[in-house]
Amino acid sequence: MKQRDDNTSPSTALLSGQNLLRPRAVAATRRGFLRDIGAGVALIGSAGLVACGGDEQIEQIPVSWKHGVASGDPLSDRVVLWTRITTDATGPVDVGWQVATDEAFSNVVRFGVSTTSASVDYTVKVDVDQLSPASKYFYRFSVVNQKSPVGKTKTLAASGASQVKLAVFSCSNYPTGYFNVYAEAAKRTDLDATVHLGDYIYEYASNGYASSNAATLGRVSDPTNELLVLTDYRKRHAQYKSDPDLQALHATVPMIAVWDDHEVANDTWKDGAENHQANEGDFKLRRAAALQAYHEWMPTRVTQADIIYRSFNFGGLVALHMLDTRLIGREKQLDYANYTTAQGLNSAAFVSDLTRADRQLLGTTQTAWLQQQMTASTATWQVLGQQVLMGRMDIPSPILFEALNPGTGVSISAYTALKIKQATAPNTLTPTEQFILAQPAIPYNLDAWDGYYAARETVLGMAKALNKNLVVLAGDTHNAWGNDLKDQSGNQVGVEFGVSSVTSPGFESIFVNDNPVTLAASLEQLIDPLVYADTSRRGFSVITATATECRCDWIYVSTISSRTYTATTGKSLRTLPGSGNRKLVATA
Ligand SMILES: [Fe+2]
Repeated sequence: MKQRDDNTSPSTALLSGQNLLRPRAVAATRRGFLRDIGAGVALIGSAGLVACGGDEQIEQIPVSWKHGVASGDPLSDRVVLWTRITTDATGPVDVGWQVATDEAFSNVVRFGVSTTSASVDYTVKVDVDQLSPASKYFYRFSVVNQKSPVGKTKTLAASGASQVKLAVFSCSNYPTGYFNVYAEAAKRTDLDATVHLGDYIYEYASNGYASSNAATLGRVSDPTNELLVLTDYRKRHAQYKSDPDLQALHATVPMIAVWDDHEVANDTWKDGAENHQANEGDFKLRRAAALQAYHEWMPTRVTQADIIYRSFNFGGLVALHMLDTRLIGREKQLDYANYTTAQGLNSAAFVSDLTRADRQLLGTTQTAWLQQQMTASTATWQVLGQQVLMGRMDIPSPILFEALNPGTGVSISAYTALKIKQATAPNTLTPTEQFILAQPAIPYNLDAWDGYYAARETVLGMAKALNKNLVVLAGDTHNAWGNDLKDQSGNQVGVEFGVSSVTSPGFESIFVNDNPVTLAASLEQLIDPLVYADTSRRGFSVITATATECRCDWIYVSTISSRTYTATTGKSLRTLPGSGNRKLVATA
């Protein structure tokens, strides 16, 4: 602890871009500090002026900024700022923050101090209000003279937006590869916000899912055990936030995020998860720990720890409704294994359970909230930012069984050949081939909306009844999809843009014997509402909404095994507004 001299008064320090930390034991320093910061801001630009002196003591506590800065949940007048200090301090630490209209911080418009401590893992979150709409800002944090990197953020337009551009991500498994997808998006200067649809972290042990290259890449999961308790989840979030590409993205543009399952455990539903066993303790405690760490480490605006669904109005052009299809209302997933007998699938029992009228995915409270949000919104585009695929993905069962259990079905290429034979020379089909072709198409992923028929019908019915232009964003699958969304009666209701993953492996790891290009083409042919698929490339999507179209560009990186990569736009599709136009069409 050292005595402060007159030349290092708070205002002087701020003028020189510094900030001050006081020992918590010094009485009334908070009021004085805030007063002095205010004076300092007022004096910025008046070089040489020195504000109040004094003899208060300051203490230099070394801190570093190993996890970058982030902003999130922008509204027209506010945005959440985030950072985390790494320190040997064991008590509370005051962290100053500033928001300016210029990178040199000569025009600071908002400032303050936030206290952090071990109780929040030394993370810092500030919901900065009184900002101007549709405005770009720079922000930074400081502890004494130790300044964080500078972040850039942007508020939403209050009204009259002519264009909204969002980069959409999902499924970023750290040990699988480098975050080149984040690096590519961070280069852009045209984004209003990023949207992360979940699986921002994965919970597995270091020898778990898709980690075979982790040691070679220097990306072995920390901690090495599967995440179960608060300290585990915090460490894993810290490792992810140590990634330079993720830091670059967060420092560039605000993020709007929702969790999927892996922020807690694989295939989570409201009361459990596939990857939660009885010997791993009380699931509710695990979930609470996971969500606490999530909110500590993500730039989310918290109202209640387990409520992540919320809406964003982008200047009257886009209403973005972020949903929770995972934790708040989801009933347990169905499992084909529970309906399979020696005679095959017990279709009657399966279909009965699948189509039960009150089977929940969002839960009744969230569903009512969404109805209210969509009803009240006059935005041109009603966009659902949510986790799992909504489009119908019924795949001929022989193909699905072969993929899940080789030897029990046929490959997709063999099935496609049979379909061609059926069309061109049906008389030559053998009885076995006829039997294969007669098998039903069934949902490939019962964890998606395909496993929750009534819930999907409710949301589609809502959009149709309200006559809204519906665009659904989905992640989770690690593949890219463009789907037309039809209700049970076949009415065209909206479109779905399914985003590929940042790193997690796609269908190429399941359909290992199929050429990905051929596989995608076959899927597009076999699955009626599917317009576009890419099943082997890692990437993100850029959604561009204007008054006349909502467009998706699927952007892919060439590799995640090297930091050297190239990026390409693999596909672009769009939809037009109006009741007759709610389907995917080619870009102009
Ligand atoms: Fe995932």
